[in-house]
Amino acid sequence: MTEARITVNGKEAPISPAAPHTTALDFLRERGLTGTKEGCAEGECGACSVLVARPGVNKPTDWVAVNACLVPAAALDGQEIITSEGLATAGAPGTPPSLHPVQEEMAVRGGSQCGYCTPGFICSMAAEYYRPGRCAPESSADSADPAEGACADAEHGPNGFDLHALSGNLCRCTGYRPIRDAAFAVGAPAEQDPLAQRREQAPPAPVATVYAQDEYTFLRKNTLAETLQLLRERPDAVLVAGSTDWGVEVNIRSRRADCVVAIDRLPELRELRVESDCVEIGAALTLTEIERRLDGDVPLLAELFPQFASRLIRNGATLGGNLGTGSPIGDSPPVLLALEASVVLADADGERVVPLADYFTGYRQSVRRPGELIRAVRVPLPLSPVTAFHKIAKRRFDDISSVAVAFALDIEDGVVRKARIGLGGVAATPIRSLATEAALEGRPWSAQTVEAAARVLRGEGTPMSDHRASALYRSAMLGQSLLKLHAQTTEAVSS
Ligand code: FES
Ligand code: FES
Repeated sequence: MTEARITVNGKEAPISPAAPHTTALDFLRERGLTGTKEGCAEGECGACSVLVARPGVNKPTDWVAVNACLVPAAALDGQEIITSEGLATAGAPGTPPSLHPVQEEMAVRGGSQCGYCTPGFICSMAAEYYRPGRCAPESSADSADPAEGACADAEHGPNGFDLHALSGNLCRCTGYRPIRDAAFAVGAPAEQDPLAQRREQAPPAPVATVYAQDEYTFLRKNTLAETLQLLRERPDAVLVAGSTDWGVEVNIRSRRADCVVAIDRLPELRELRVESDCVEIGAALTLTEIERRLDGDVPLLAELFPQFASRLIRNGATLGGNLGTGSPIGDSPPVLLALEASVVLADADGERVVPLADYFTGYRQSVRRPGELIRAVRVPLPLSPVTAFHKIAKRRFDDISSVAVAFALDIEDGVVRKARIGLGGVAATPIRSLATEAALEGRPWSAQTVEAAARVLRGEGTPMSDHRASALYRSAMLGQSLLKLHAQTTEAVSS
């Protein structure tokens, strides 16, 4: 076993003496790379954003921005990362470094005042700058309005820059317009740009890791079989993929685990297969990978992704993790319930397939046994044609749902043949809305049916009052979401 190391800005750095639960953020700052900042330590501000070389969707490598405050440094053993310091090019002795194009645009367009958020914005912006397939640049500098251009729409600049790339970054003093102007002004990477060239080679292969200190151990195996054997011996282990949930527990609640096992690079958990009767999605594919690889083929998932946290979180978070935590307010369960998905659970003895509707058993509890992990999620085909995901939250993006509702309906000749409705935030677990489904099925998709079913939907679950919303508001929003779907489908039919 070789010493655990990370390549940071082109130079190898040993992870030791960091503890197994030390975050990549603290590891970097301890090494003097203090451009990477801590704002919240729970994945909400993006001040800690760094770039990681990951398997690419359209090229061998993508530069992916992640929250360094959530990822343990040990999880990056053998990997390659770039910080804001590594983006600038060193100048000749005695001369300052030359700024990276995104740094240059942020500087000249006034995108930084106090500068605390800036390195994080720069890294998120750089990831989007290097995203293969981003629209060829038509410099917004040529346009009177930087938001106008060939690729521009409400969420993209003329250079194809997707503003969602910055959805996980907060700035408290500059204001977002100059930052948006900078994002919409960057061109395409130059041919000789080393990070653009780096995309043409494979990312570092995952390495088996045993990183231990005192009573704490961080482990990564190379194969699923080895991991399952390990889980048989250590059923108490905490499983992590993107660490977007566990990282918060470590930072904010000071939780520690004797044994943490990383499963995010296991090839068996990173396959996406479209079969004749189902789409099987590997549990360790990140939400960004699923979004880009499915490219809208499952419209309900496509509607979910932009509303699921931020791009930074989606670059690490997985469906397996969102189901594995068993949270009643995870955003993927309502959607997967409406899609009638199943989870494929694996342990050292084999696999079993459990319908998601039978998976959750109580608050943060499920039928998953110690020693088992989620290998994949199966979405049956064909898909219902009328789908929608309504997330009610205080902020449009990067917020926790007060209520989430997902619909999947088959409507033929104006009659609801099949209705599947998943709910989040209204009970101790995500639930199917069975009474409302029954109130819709076999009836005309009419205002009368929908109003009656909306009354039933308002009574589903056992919503609570808390700091996000009152029970009454949650119930009201359930009914409204069905009325909204009906209005949308009626508009679609009449237009
Ligand atoms: Fe705020 Fe990491 S420090 S997201
Ligand atoms: Fe001050 Fe963004 S420049 S927080």
